[in-house]
Amino acid sequence: MRILGTGSYLPSKVVTNEAIAATLDTTDEWIYAHTGIRSRHVAEEGESTSTMAAKAAEAAMDAAGVTADEIGLIVLATSTPDFAPFPSTACLVQAQLGCTEAGAFDLQAACSGFVYALEQARGFLRFNPGKKALVIGAECLTRILDWTDRSSCILFGDGAGAVVLGDSEMNVNCATTTILGADGKGGRYILRTGGTRESLKENPMTGLPSPAVPSIPRLMLQGHEVFAFAVRKLAKVVEALCERQCITPDALDRVYAHQANRRIIEATARRMKIPLDRFWINLETTANTSSASIPIALDESVRSGELRNGMKIVLAGFGSGLTWGGIYSVWPDF
Ligand code: UT7
Repeated sequence: MRILGTGSYLPSKVVTNEAIAATLDTTDEWIYAHTGIRSRHVAEEGESTSTMAAKAAEAAMDAAGVTADEIGLIVLATSTPDFAPFPSTACLVQAQLGCTEAGAFDLQAACSGFVYALEQARGFLRFNPGKKALVIGAECLTRILDWTDRSSCILFGDGAGAVVLGDSEMNVNCATTTILGADGKGGRYILRTGGTRESLKENPMTGLPSPAVPSIPRLMLQGHEVFAFAVRKLAKVVEALCERQCITPDALDRVYAHQANRRIIEATARRMKIPLDRFWINLETTANTSSASIPIALDESVRSGELRNGMKIVLAGFGSGLTWGGIYSVWPDF
């Protein structure tokens, strides 16, 4: 199978580091030096994860030349669903797009979500030949941030990315290979509050007292721990995928890694001894959009004309769970 089209959507409202520094004890210099981020897109009133996802999906369907009734499945990766957690955001998108022939569900694997979702769709298409699947990563993270916590709120932004996956006669010898992984012992390092466990007096993940009534969901992050995990895991995933193909990372044309922090990507490139320019980096203006970051990067790369048929690429994500996932493919086969 292959990716037939890509699309993405970023809200028009942009919030710069300077704007955050006007309300918090931080500076543009600190944020840029520690993260590589200068600004982020923020969903406005009336926008939500489903509306952004639908716009990205429409662009992907246009690019693929596929109509709504051709879509057999919608898998939407998100940690910030419109409703928590049902009806699924994928169902809301199904209705917005008029994909009446499609099954639809959300998938939650945090910032690894898009890679997990792509693998789900590949499995579906294997047993439903002739169908097409929409795979979407979409997030409205700015609605769950604690805007008084300078160590986390500066990191994230909103947006959506999507691909249409379908059959192809081209890739009979397709070399696509996937790694999905998790380490639930690291769950406390990044978590979103507001789930059913919160009715307990003490939150078992944080050890902190919790209200007996559900609170507004908030993202909580132990940045140091996630940073160390990310650098270790990202390099390992990319190297393991290459090993399966009997190639070295240097043979890769492009790596689309989750956009969490420029320093994580730089450290990974150093570890793998490959030039930094093999990595697509766009977080300066998007910040971390979690499950949307990889498909947004992929779409930018496709639309710039820079990603050409036959290029060896890896998509690699890591995040809360802890989770990680990577896919090696020869573009546009998957
Ligand atoms: O997608 C997966 C989720 N992504 C992540 O979890 C991101 C992974 N982690 C990171 O990107 C980095 O760990 C951060 C950007 C979150 C933090 O960068 P750091 O270089 O690890 O900074 P730090 O946590 O070591 O903090 C250094 C200092 C601290 O002050 P003290 O204790 O040394 O006095 C912080 O309080 O910087 C302070 N600090 C800030 N200062 C100005 C933390 N945030 C800020 C800020 N502005 N925004």
